[in-house]
Amino acid sequence: MKARVKVALIGFGNVGRHVALELSKLGATIVSASSSRGSLVGADPGSIVELARRGGRLHEHPSLEEDLDPVEAAVKAGAEVAMITIPPSYETGEPNRSIYYRLIDEGISIVTADKTVLAMWFRETMSRARSMGVYIGYRATVAAGIPAIDMAKGLRGRDVDEIEAVLNSTTNYLITLVKGGMDYQSAVRKAIEDQLAEPDPRVDTHGLDPAAKLAILASTLGYEARLEQVEREPLDKVLEDPEQVDRLRSGEPLRYIAYAEPKRGVYRVEPRWLPETSPLAGVTGIYNGILARLEGEQVLLTGPVGPAWRTAKVMITDLLDYMEARVG
Ligand SMILES: NC(=O)c1ccc[n+]([C@@H]2O[C@H](COP(=O)([O-])OP(=O)(O)OC[C@H]3O[C@@H](n4cnc5c(N)ncnc54)[C@H](OP(=O)(O)O)[C@@H]3O)[C@@H](O)[C@H]2O)c1
Repeated sequence: MKARVKVALIGFGNVGRHVALELSKLGATIVSASSSRGSLVGADPGSIVELARRGGRLHEHPSLEEDLDPVEAAVKAGAEVAMITIPPSYETGEPNRSIYYRLIDEGISIVTADKTVLAMWFRETMSRARSMGVYIGYRATVAAGIPAIDMAKGLRGRDVDEIEAVLNSTTNYLITLVKGGMDYQSAVRKAIEDQLAEPDPRVDTHGLDPAAKLAILASTLGYEARLEQVEREPLDKVLEDPEQVDRLRSGEPLRYIAYAEPKRGVYRVEPRWLPETSPLAGVTGIYNGILARLEGEQVLLTGPVGPAWRTAKVMITDLLDYMEARVG
């Protein structure tokens, strides 16, 4: 069955290429595609999918219009949804915020894997979208692979006292490598080689990535939470300290925890030694885990997150929600 939806792809990297493949399975139409180098409008969608299948870059496509802006391309192509897979921009939030706001102002809905804009300006973005009747799907921004956003939506209005979560697989991987005998710098090099860490691993090890996810989770729960409010303690200082490394190698569970007491406005990312009985002590490797404490009980969600192909599948679940909610 062909899904009648016109999609603009904004970003054509690891995740964007998999989104193109998933869209072709769904029978959706890719009407434009953009990378940092320019955009395609009106190209044969099959040629874009073929490029994705062989892991090509968008600028290899012969019809790429250099410097054609992604929003202009989406508007020109008559896209109704933009699927955004551009890198985060934690310093200024740009060009990400402008891309989102211009899409919204044009009445184009958004499905995104990029955390920047929602971590920094959740309320503003959502109210702008509401005023334009535009949908924003963002399941892929937090623990892409497990329904973390659905969990937060389902707990809205409940009496959530604390969130304790493992939201970053790269740091979990580093902890595992150091525990296994590797020194910290070699572990970081290996994580970059294995494409698990960003070229600048501090996005993970200094907590920006889990802090952004925590801000989005708390905002989804209904609290005013911005990335800048999240206190961050780096993981490196623990993994570079010989005494702490001995403690880790003796078997004590260490996790890089994203912690919130949303009612008190407390948001922190920090290395934490867990009791062995903690459900988060079992969250290792590519698994993430979210433990919500509410009403004297605990709700736990855990499962595998990433890599790019799974993230793309998660974005399709948002697209299906958009299609279901759409009138006409
Ligand atoms: N990898 C995962 O499993 C995962 C999971 C959850 C969320 N995410 C998030 O998903 C996003 C994409 O990740 P990725 O691994 O696919 O990144 P990536 O491989 O680096 O791809 C990024 C793509 O965005 C394009 N781009 C950069 N700036 C742009 C701009 N201003 N306008 C249009 N296109 C632009 C790049 O263009 P060029 O091709 O010209 O470089 C590239 O095609 C990131 O925000 C990441 O944090 C990823």
